[in-house]
Parts: sequence; structure tokens; C-alpha cells
Amino acid sequence: MKPGPSLMKHYLQFKDFRAEEYAYLFERARIIKQRFKNYEKYHPLADRTLAMIFEKASTRTRVSFEAGMYQMGGSVVHLTTGDSQLGRAEPIEDTARVISRMVDLVMIRTYEQAKLERFAAHSRVPVINGLTNEFHPCQILADVFTFIEHRGDIRGKVVAWVGDGNNMAHTWLQAAEVLGFTVHVSTPSGYEVDPRVAGIRDTSCFRVFKDPMDACRGAHLVTTDVWTSMGFEAESETRRKAFADWCVDAEMMAVARPDALFMHCLPAHRGEEVAADVIDGPQSVVWDEAENRMHVQKVLMEYLLLGRIG
Ligand code: CP
Ligand code: NVA
Repeated sequence: MKPGPSLMKHYLQFKDFRAEEYAYLFERARIIKQRFKNYEKYHPLADRTLAMIFEKASTRTRVSFEAGMYQMGGSVVHLTTGDSQLGRAEPIEDTARVISRMVDLVMIRTYEQAKLERFAAHSRVPVINGLTNEFHPCQILADVFTFIEHRGDIRGKVVAWVGDGNNMAHTWLQAAEVLGFTVHVSTPSGYEVDPRVAGIRDTSCFRVFKDPMDACRGAHLVTTDVWTSMGFEAESETRRKAFADWCVDAEMMAVARPDALFMHCLPAHRGEEVAADVIDGPQSVVWDEAENRMHVQKVLMEYLLLGRIG
């Protein structure tokens, strides 16, 4: 049965769920992943449709949501700015009203978080953030699940963020506040994280380091992202210069814990934000991380539409 409006949840930022809901989702993801690997059929979303709206490019987000929805018996509609009326200035509110009368779930990748929130405010069905300028919660959902798979509970651990104070960095800060770990952040000056953008109440969940080596020291996980995010392409030359010392290399990994993991949401640029021997080396779990997008998002869609199972 479809949840009524009072029960409807969106997933617009990481802090939309509590730690206890994440504990459920991570355990459920473990089960769903294992069943899928065993070729067990599971079609709880038969006759349900996911609309995916992309205003920016994507490989992983598109494939993971689309494959995941089909695996659960549902279907998918894929829209972009260029091939829908969104590109011809139809208001986002009207688009939300119309689409949400026809589908059961909407995933959007767009620019401003405010635009996603306007869509959600006019949607009859749950809306998922597939990346905005401010946040990328589905990616951090996969990243934390990947950490748990490899190393167990993330509570009390240290995650080193090296690079841009961007959507990924801000989502890590939210996750740290919700799940109880610490982020060591090192960014070039002018590219810092902003607790107001991150929307965190307690700034003790992160520490800022001028030198990326200091951020990595003793970390359980070292992670980074592109120097130039989508939508900021005009700044890429300036950023290339500003970020030159923020390349995660073997020296940085050497000061982290000996069992530290390396993650990157991808796409990656070897020789820029990460050295090839790190991303392709034994501490890197980037391929598990990418695969896990699909497993955690299947569970997210199941949770938003059907609530807790079992
Ligand atoms: N990590 C991530 O969201 O990848 P895509 O941009 O390919 O979807
Ligand atoms: N920070 C990057 C993440 C890409 C998945 C961007 O927004 O382009």
C-alpha cells in the first residue's frame, strides 16, 4: 500500500534520516546485496515507476538507479533539461505537480538545493537528491556502507577530506554529525567548507587543517573528489593552480592508519586530485564504493515507498 502524505519522506540531504534509520538501511543493504549476488528474485516495486531528472551529466547515478529499479521489478523514465520542457522554462513547481501524478518516486540531479526543495514541496511522491551544488547524500550513503563492509562501525572514526569544500565535503560533515564520527578537512584557501551550507549544528564533528598531510595523519579513511565540480567549469584553470598541493598521494596515505581506506566518488582524474598508485592501489575501495551506490539506493527506494521490511 502506498504511504499517505503524512508518512511520506523525501531524501534531500543526509540529515533527513536519523542514525537509527541509517542502522536499518545499512543492515538492509547488506541483505539486499547478498540476495542479489545469489540471483534471488525480489520484485517489491512491480508496477512502480521512478522518474530520473538530470540537469547535469551522470554515469554512476543513472546506471545505479536504473538497474536498481529494474532489479526490484519497477521501471524508469529518464529526463534531461535538453529533452524536456524544463529546458524551455516550465516552472519546476509545475513539473513536480505533473510528474508526481504519474510516477511513484522522483530522483533529481540539479544545481541549487533550493530548486530540489521547491520540487519536493510540490511533489505528491518521495523525492531523492541525486546531487546538487550543496549535497550528494546518495554517494555518502554508499561510502559509509562501503566503510562498514570493510572496517565495521564508522562511529568514532576519522575521515580525512582532502580537496574542495564542495557538495561531497558538506555531505560528509552532515554524516559525521548524524553518525558520530569526525572529518579532518584540508582545502586550499578560498575553497573551505562552510558549516552553514552543510547545515550542521555542532561544529565539533569536523576539524580544519591547513596542511593536507596533517588532515590525513591517523585517519581511518582518506577521501577526495574532483577539483572542479559540475557547474564550476569556468574556474577550472584557477582551481588547477590553487589545488596543486591537494593531490592524495602515497605520502599522504603513509601517514594515515596502516589499514586506512581510500575512497573517491568518481569520476577521477589521476595525477590531479589523486595519484594513480593510490586510486589503483591496495587501499583503494573505489570500485566497491561505485557498485554499492546501486545496493544502497535499492534499499533507499524500498524504504521510501514501502517503509521498513521485517
Ligand atoms: N559519483 C557519481 O555521482 O557519479 P556520476 O556523476 O557518474 O553519477
Ligand atoms: N563534486 C562532484 C561530484 C561528482 C559526482 C560534482 O559535483 O561534479
